[in-house]
Amino acid sequence: MTFAVVIALFLGVRYLLVPKSFGEYGHYRGLALAENADRPLHYSTSANCARCHEDIFGDKSKGHHAGLSCEGCHGPAGKHVLFSDSTHTIKLADSLILKRDSTRQFCAVCHEKNAARIKILFDTINKSVVKVVEEKKHNHLFDKETHKLLNCIECHNPHDP
Ligand code: HEC
Ligand code: HEC
Ligand code: HEC
Ligand code: HEC
Repeated sequence: MTFAVVIALFLGVRYLLVPKSFGEYGHYRGLALAENADRPLHYSTSANCARCHEDIFGDKSKGHHAGLSCEGCHGPAGKHVLFSDSTHTIKLADSLILKRDSTRQFCAVCHEKNAARIKILFDTINKSVVKVVEEKKHNHLFDKETHKLLNCIECHNPHDP
């Protein structure tokens, strides 16, 4: 008798808690597919950038950064591409201006020596692990006038380092 009550209770609770579309296609909510398809796209692709930034795309393709995606450094550019496409204007609204981080810290995200990082990023040209910035060579590069450390991009073109 108790057993029957427990089972009835279980079925009742299960009926209330399991979402309607569960199991429609498999062991998940069927509606999840539609919900995911409805999500706005934030990223474009590097190939899309080539249409308007041909020179930069060309520079990048022949340099050490060829394997990096444009949006990896500039952030999601879906809106930037759509808007530029539709208006063909040279003046972009502030919200469409992409980030352009030219600080030393930014390059260091990938190039700083980091003992904890697994060495999976291989250099396609020299077949070695991605080069880390050498302390001795790079941490003493001061601007003669301001006496501040020089930014990486004063010597390296981020698109063709
Ligand atoms: C390693 C990071 C990195 C990657 C990858 C990268 N950029 Fe940049 N980009 C920068 C930085 C940093 C600047 C700012 C340079 C400066 O201030 O002089 C910049 C500047 C720009 C500018 C502004 C104009 C200019 O020449 O300074 C454009 C446009 C641009 N990038 C487009 C692209 C496109 C298109 C791609 C892909 C083909 C790309 N970037 C890939 C880091 C990157
Ligand atoms: C349909 C044309 C078009 C496409 C496609 C396009 N851009 Fe732009 N982009 C522009 C215009 C116009 C500007 C503003 C004028 C300029 O700086 O050349 C600009 C400026 C930039 C800048 C300078 C900072 C800013 O936002 O003003 C960056 C960085 C940039 N684009 C990156 C990208 C990346 C990355 C892609 C590909 C995902 C891309 N663009 C695709 C038209 C385009
Ligand atoms: C998202 C990670 C990433 C960021 C951010 C990044 N790099 Fe790189 N960089 C790489 C990778 C990966 C390579 C090696 C690519 C290859 O050759 O296969 C590389 C290669 C280089 C090289 C060539 C090294 C050699 O072997 O001689 C230089 C120089 C360089 N980057 C400078 C910079 C500078 C300056 C910045 C900042 C504007 C920067 N990188 C930002 C990932 C990154
Ligand atoms: C004053 C100019 C200058 C500045 C500033 C500078 N570099 Fe370099 N960097 C060089 C030169 C020159 C080389 C080539 C050295 C060689 O081949 O022996 C180099 C080489 C590299 C290499 C290849 C590995 C190596 O040590 O040979 C990487 C990666 C690199 N730089 C990243 C950076 C990053 C990241 C920054 C900013 C934190 C930066 N550089 C700032 C001039 C500079």
